Amino acid sequence: MIHIKTEEEVLLMQQAALLVSNTLSQVAAILKPGMTTLDIDQFCMQYVKDHKATLSFYNYHGYPHHICASVNDVVVHGFPNKIPLKEGDIVSVDLGVILNGWHGDHAYTFIIGEVPADVLELVKVTKESLYKGIEKAIVNNRVGDISYAIQEHTEKAHGYGVVRELVGHGLGKSLHEDPQVPNYGKRGTGLKMKENLVLAIEPMINMGTHKVFTEEDGWTVKTQDGKMSVHFEHDVCVKKNEAFILSDFSIIEAAEKANINLNSSYY
Ligand code: MF3
Ligand code: CO
Repeated sequence: MIHIKTEEEVLLMQQAALLVSNTLSQVAAILKPGMTTLDIDQFCMQYVKDHKATLSFYNYHGYPHHICASVNDVVVHGFPNKIPLKEGDIVSVDLGVILNGWHGDHAYTFIIGEVPADVLELVKVTKESLYKGIEKAIVNNRVGDISYAIQEHTEKAHGYGVVRELVGHGLGKSLHEDPQVPNYGKRGTGLKMKENLVLAIEPMINMGTHKVFTEEDGWTVKTQDGKMSVHFEHDVCVKKNEAFILSDFSIIEAAEKANINLNSSYY
């Protein structure tokens, strides 16, 4: 079902989205080689609880952790584990919270230490594609316009693989509301968007083939060719002239930059 939000509800959702952004910016500040994704999970869990919110993913359809931490060829829904992150890894941290009854759900892909140039490029282009999609999230455009913009920038322009099996979604009192927001598709198709429709837009882009498989744990999605995959997600409110982005990457990016400078000063 599609739920259009009131102005007040949009602002409450912004609070939830910003709690996720704040948490991820804290993660950005402390990430370094040797840290495990389980450390990140515990940190996020505590931070969210300390801010009077609960975790959306924990026990969602039986999901057994607080966050998704997807390293390298893991596309999404990676289980946090005790394997230390190492220089050259990338990790998508996907966090969902419920604050005052409203969900915030977004994700950011972090790099650990120095990463090969082609991987950096995949990270950059995937983030760019998210903003290309967001540009289309305006009143009277269609969901397919978002999908098309993301696919054009990633598959067409750079030859990357757009994951088909997983999609973005409406967001509100539920983690997943209609409509689905695929990262591939045709312009001018799909739902015509109304003001204050809130969407989680989340390109999952592979360096190689778009094909993925799910591991025996029933959750972990990986690339079939073992190549890297990147995932960024923003919570976005449809508006007349320009989408209103509820989540905020700038605080994450600032913390990321400070952390990189801090760690590189050791060399
Ligand atoms: N951002 C992802 C999504 O919207 C995360 C869901 S993980 C789950 O599907 F565990 F909650 F399923
Ligand atoms: Co999502």
